[in-house]
Amino acid sequence: MKNILAIETSCDETAAAIVCGRRIIANKIYSQILLHRKWGGVVPSLAKKAHEEKIDYVVEEVLKKIAKNPKSPFSAFKKIDAIAVTYGPGLAIALEVGIKKAKELAEKFNKPLIGVNHLEGHIYSCFAQNRRGNPKREFNFPYLVLIVSGGHTELVLFKNHLDYQVLGKTIDDAAGEALDKAAKMLGLGYPGGPVIERLAEKGDPNFYYFPRPLLSKKNLDFSFSGLKTAFYYFLKKKPESFRLNNLNHLASSFQQAVFDVLLKKLELGVEFTKIKNILVVGGVAANQKLRKEVFKLTKKIKGKVFFPPFKTLYGDNAAMIGIAGYYRLYFGFFLKNKQKLDRVPRLQLGDDSLYFSQP
Ligand code: KG4
Ligand code: ZN
Repeated sequence: MKNILAIETSCDETAAAIVCGRRIIANKIYSQILLHRKWGGVVPSLAKKAHEEKIDYVVEEVLKKIAKNPKSPFSAFKKIDAIAVTYGPGLAIALEVGIKKAKELAEKFNKPLIGVNHLEGHIYSCFAQNRRGNPKREFNFPYLVLIVSGGHTELVLFKNHLDYQVLGKTIDDAAGEALDKAAKMLGLGYPGGPVIERLAEKGDPNFYYFPRPLLSKKNLDFSFSGLKTAFYYFLKKKPESFRLNNLNHLASSFQQAVFDVLLKKLELGVEFTKIKNILVVGGVAANQKLRKEVFKLTKKIKGKVFFPPFKTLYGDNAAMIGIAGYYRLYFGFFLKNKQKLDRVPRLQLGDDSLYFSQP
């Protein structure tokens, strides 16, 4: 089984990992949340600077885990077969930091370089295993994937290894972004998803009614910006709803509007594709309420749902990039020219124009 060193810097996590096939050997994440919190969202220039400051640290930390002598982490490269790095989608100046480091190491230690789509990393996170190879979770294609994160909301057909078809996506904001913006309007800080979840537990999801954009449209696209605007005007008109007891109801009702859209579109996706094997990935997939509702749906349709098996794999991390990278290596997807690897901030799933299939 091949060992991959993986690097991820597409947004606000500086991350490195070592995987052996789909087994996670080491996984280090330096989160920049505290840095961005006071701005209420990710500031690209700050993210870039923080990535530059932490990239060597996270890489060395994971190398130490497999080096014979932890005092010389780079000796671990004897055991590394390839280097995988996220090259999109994401913030251009943030992606550049990881790509530069990956290229530098690939050159210095003469290793193949694999460019990975951040979203395929999220998808493969469902198949991660610990060092002992658990959970076993075999691949059973095809899957219908719901990607829900701060930057992305997409329904994807995962036909086979590395073979994806995007069935629908958000035409404006992502689901996590909507939760983050609502939390910001309520003065709850960043990231908003976990805070909204906590407040929502004590609130009534039907206390207020907020719009469910595109819900009645018979397609698989999402939209959350109208919901956000409706929430803004609601708060402006009814500032008294800010009172603490109402905050729970507000959070719960807003969250429910977001989840109703996700669930309805997921169900529509099952209806269109007849696929009942579902994967739910990305930061928002950590939400217990959402998970419960997806479980309910899969019970109703007699399907199966899988989430990433470990908590650290919901948000951004490099282990998922390593696993996707491993399959790229395994199936002979090699870069045309590793020196030409460049960031593609709007990279789409299925766009493999940088690849050809021979070593
Ligand atoms: O996957 P991720 O870490 O980064 C992106 O690729 O975007 O997702 C971050 C998003 C944020 O919008 C955050 O508010 C949301 O995931 N999130 C949650 C929860 N934990 C994180 N949303 C709802 N409930 C949660 N428990
Ligand atoms: Zn992500």
